[in-house]
Amino acid sequence: MNGPPALPLIGHLYIMVKFTTTEAIFHNLRTIGDKYPSPICIHVGPLVHVFLFNPEELQIMLNSPNCLNKSLHYSFLRVDLGVFASPGHIWKGQRKLLNLSLGPAILNSSITMFNEKSAILVNQFEKYADGIEHNIYRDIAKCALDIIYYTALGLDFDMQRTDAGDYYLNLQDEFMDLIAKRMFSPSLYPEFIYQMTKSYKREQEMINEARQLTDRIMQERKVNERLSTEQFSNESVKTDIGRKKPMNFLDSLSKLAQYNEDLTREAILQQVDTIIFAGSDTTATTVSTFLLMLAIHPDVQEQVYQEVMQVCPDKTQSVTLEDISKLTYTEMACKETMRLFPAAPIIARVSNEDIKLDDRNTIPANSMIIGAIYQVQRDPKIWGPNAHLFNPDNFLPENAALRHPYAFIPFSAGIRNCMGTRYAWLVMKVVIVYLIRKYRFKTSLDMNSLNFKYSIIMKITNGCLVSLEKRDESVVGECGMK
Ligand code: HEM
Repeated sequence: MNGPPALPLIGHLYIMVKFTTTEAIFHNLRTIGDKYPSPICIHVGPLVHVFLFNPEELQIMLNSPNCLNKSLHYSFLRVDLGVFASPGHIWKGQRKLLNLSLGPAILNSSITMFNEKSAILVNQFEKYADGIEHNIYRDIAKCALDIIYYTALGLDFDMQRTDAGDYYLNLQDEFMDLIAKRMFSPSLYPEFIYQMTKSYKREQEMINEARQLTDRIMQERKVNERLSTEQFSNESVKTDIGRKKPMNFLDSLSKLAQYNEDLTREAILQQVDTIIFAGSDTTATTVSTFLLMLAIHPDVQEQVYQEVMQVCPDKTQSVTLEDISKLTYTEMACKETMRLFPAAPIIARVSNEDIKLDDRNTIPANSMIIGAIYQVQRDPKIWGPNAHLFNPDNFLPENAALRHPYAFIPFSAGIRNCMGTRYAWLVMKVVIVYLIRKYRFKTSLDMNSLNFKYSIIMKITNGCLVSLEKRDESVVGECGMK
């Protein structure tokens, strides 16, 4: 396979040890991707990593039943029992049942809450309408946390208006930086070595602190009795008047626990940790990057604003599912944001059989296969010479039709794709409508000044720095819920 020259015994380890920060390692891997065509093989000592960033090859890998196991790196997140990282044979049953908890019934019944939480966010942004640039990511992240906690557990944690939001996000940021560092330090892969480090001690402290926070809030809301028995009754899915309401994530786990002895309290907590993280930081990072893109591209912002005002102009009116389906240009601009800044820039699997890519290349069993989403979504051979520029027209139906479907896979694709795609789209569009109706976004940043880091989620290290200007109140009235 293609790739830079490997040294005897250590292989390509020299590439990683040359750089001390995850930013630098990530940047260097991207440079290798620009230089060599897919598939690229990187040997880290005895470990074989195959990088794929050709749509046809990605399609083969993501649809192979022999590629359902996640790589060793996912175990660093300490949620092996959760649907995100669990081994293929356990995952199948989990996914089937948990899919329901993010299905149309629960989404339809959550749209009012999405509106309520977005209206709170709009009010939180008032403090930023002072002409100065602020990093808006944190406020959006708290809103996304409130929304996922409510959807998944049926609990209102009100992270936006209490200290809990900052407390949780500080833990999350530090935890993810630590795990990303371990991912790029193969000497720390063996658990017995890692457990001797200060990072391990801190990691365990953070997991406990985050658990205590969730536990405390759950206790306040009297949820713990349900978890402490580890046996749940179907009562949890009945409303006060006895009518069935859709099962949320916790209800689905409750049901699973009734006939699955493996679903211990620890397993349930890991599932909850998984869904909260997977369902909040991804959407929050995408929405804040989207707003930064609009601030850098005022012409696109104006088109998004015009569309939003055409579809749902009355700020006192909630956004409906029907409104959401009409926001086609907004969706194109959001897709373009996810193309250039995919929240999950790389994903990794382990093959349990040989995977034949074509007549020339076969990935041997037990290799680590990296799906380089970032690389395929910026490939000039697919997206043209201006692949690095922000252009929502890339997603005009006539342009999208010319591309391979696996050229744009921010939610992954195939058998083990993202479980929350539909949910994410709804949340992102509702939040965007509320913010765009009320504020105009500006920034001094430009596309060339942006730097990224890999912190499991891809982050812009400059921060989503924007200044806010209130739009003309006389036209649209006060923001809020009807
Ligand atoms: C913009 C938002 C989002 C993006 C870009 C995104 C992206 C992804 C990607 C790339 C994967 C594949 C990971 C891998 O193979 O290692 C994934 C998996 C997953 N996502 Fe998302 N995601 C988003 C939102 C959400 C939301 C809102 C939820 C839940 C409410 C969610 C739940 C999950 C779960 C549970 C998995 C694991 C699926 C499995 O292994 O079967 N995601 N997501």
